[in-house]
Amino acid sequence: MPGVESGVGLTALMVAAARAIETYRPDALAGDAYAEHFVRAAEVSAAWPVRPAEVPDGDANPLWGRLGRYFGLRTRVLDDFLIRSVHAGARQVVLLGAGLDTRAFRLDWPPGLVVYEIDREGVLAFKHRVLDDLAAAPAVTRRPIAADLREDWARSLLNTGFDPAVPTSWLAEGLLLYLPPAAERCLIDTVNRLSAEGSTLAFEVKLGVESPEVRTGPVYLATRQQIGIDLLALFDREPRPDSVGHLRESGWSTATRTPFDFTRHHGRGPLPEPNDALASNRWVFANKPGMHL
Ligand SMILES: C[S@@+](CC[C@H](N)C(=O)[O-])C[C@H]1O[C@@H](n2cnc3c(N)ncnc32)[C@H](O)[C@@H]1O
Repeated sequence: MPGVESGVGLTALMVAAARAIETYRPDALAGDAYAEHFVRAAEVSAAWPVRPAEVPDGDANPLWGRLGRYFGLRTRVLDDFLIRSVHAGARQVVLLGAGLDTRAFRLDWPPGLVVYEIDREGVLAFKHRVLDDLAAAPAVTRRPIAADLREDWARSLLNTGFDPAVPTSWLAEGLLLYLPPAAERCLIDTVNRLSAEGSTLAFEVKLGVESPEVRTGPVYLATRQQIGIDLLALFDREPRPDSVGHLRESGWSTATRTPFDFTRHHGRGPLPEPNDALASNRWVFANKPGMHL
């Protein structure tokens, strides 16, 4: 059963390590007390850094410095997005490709909210083993769903109590880059079909194809050399669908932002660099009429 120790599941541990390091920065953008426990619990990541002081070269490290800070910023921005959405009326949250996301445990949710977490069985089994060892209790009703997001996951969601008649806030954080275009297209169609008016969706995409200079640059190189993750091999290589266009055709309004917009807003985080692996990343925020964020 594929879990967190190999393939795309390993990226969930990478993001958890970045969140652990972020948590202990004096100027942290987000805090996740569970993150370091996931990293320590898996054999493959047990020796990865989980504190800023453990990072060789500190902020100059392209993986744990720059890319890590990117994940910290992304966590904060999407925490804020979800909290804003539920305060504006969303009654359910669906985390697509939830990985080791602990928002159900660490955010301050309004009463009555339900959080669904979809990921592959092996990833969720590892997550539950670590959280059970910590006796962690969710701050909300939490319903994990083991499913492959390239297949018919909507049926499992509906069978687990999801109500398409009430507004939902959907999140695909660090997921779509790994899915074949047909699966992304299908995911966006499914989100649209299951979204009542007032629903919201946030997701991350990369625009276009990165140049050879970017692909051989420090972020991808350090990720391969330091933790053995070849992100470029894991990303789906086919041309991406126009998910923003599809949502707009279906009546959603969308706003596309760069991570650097939020770095400037928060006064910390990554800024543009030459041949930058973050330059083509975009965070898309969409809402189906009925909710204004
Ligand atoms: C980079 S991690 C992000 C995890 C989480 N969203 C976060 O930001 O911490 C990507 C996650 O997507 C999940 N994933 C990738 N392809 C998937 C698929 N076909 N079905 C279900 N989950 C998938 C992986 O198992 C992994 O947990």
